[in-house]
Amino acid sequence: MLRIAVQSKGRLYEETMELLKAAGIKLVAVKRTLLVPSRNFPVELLFLRDDDIPDSVASGTADIGIVGLNEVLEKKKDVKQIRPLGFSKCRLSLAIPKEADYKGVEWFNGKKIATSYPEILSDFLAKNNIKADIHVISGSVEIAPGIGLADGIFDIVSSGSTLISNNLREVEVVLPSEAVLIGGTNDLDDEKQAILNELLFRIEAVKEAENKKYVLMNVPREKLQAVLAILPGIKSPTVLPLADENWCSVHTVLEEKKLWTCINALKAVGATGILVLNIEEMVL
Ligand code: PRP
Ligand code: ZN
Repeated sequence: MLRIAVQSKGRLYEETMELLKAAGIKLVAVKRTLLVPSRNFPVELLFLRDDDIPDSVASGTADIGIVGLNEVLEKKKDVKQIRPLGFSKCRLSLAIPKEADYKGVEWFNGKKIATSYPEILSDFLAKNNIKADIHVISGSVEIAPGIGLADGIFDIVSSGSTLISNNLREVEVVLPSEAVLIGGTNDLDDEKQAILNELLFRIEAVKEAENKKYVLMNVPREKLQAVLAILPGIKSPTVLPLADENWCSVHTVLEEKKLWTCINALKAVGATGILVLNIEEMVL
């Protein structure tokens, strides 16, 4: 059994659950429990506050964890990053009242900065030779300047709407962050390592399929070369005969961002009956 520490609620929770579900991991339905086993895969989930996840992995309470890089770097625990997961993207930024006159990071000299990330902030300030007063608060950091508690803040920015509604403006992006899979620095036993390998294999397949579509279409034989020329071939597409020998069926995988340009080009050269399907997993 491999124990995975995950966030119990908050910015990472939903996408973490989605990733595990896409990897075929189903949970036993239990409410309000800290530790929930899977009913079809040898893992159990330990639900924690994101702040506690690095320590739970470093101490061995959990074998691996899914948490924001921001928490990993702030907590400075003995953990290793196994792989980035590509979701819950955000950044740790410095922000100041929007009307303040800002010309550069020197602005923060002698200023008071409210944050829940004192370690990352003090490293950044030291690197930039800025002497500022760090005021640690654990939540609602964004209201500190408005109530006169600080001159600026250092906090997570995602959509930016929290800053806007507090009349703040982002002036320095210090750390881009996203969810990462972390593990301890000691080797796992063979059984756990095998479970982790299978999990990583599945995550790879889910990630590979993300933003990709399976596309099928009917093509007149005489237009086949023109159609194949349009398809950006990772590998050569599948071409199947149809009952009417003047036609064939072409199957391929397209990146979502190229989908509509491709479809229009395919229609223009005579492809018809174009079907676009979702791909759940893709093993290369
Ligand atoms: C963070 C941060 C802001 C908000 C920014 O809090 O403290 O309040 O997100 O997001 P936005 O740019 O999309 O408005 P979070 O929700 O992560 O809660 P936390 O304070 O418990 O970490
Ligand atoms: Zn938190």
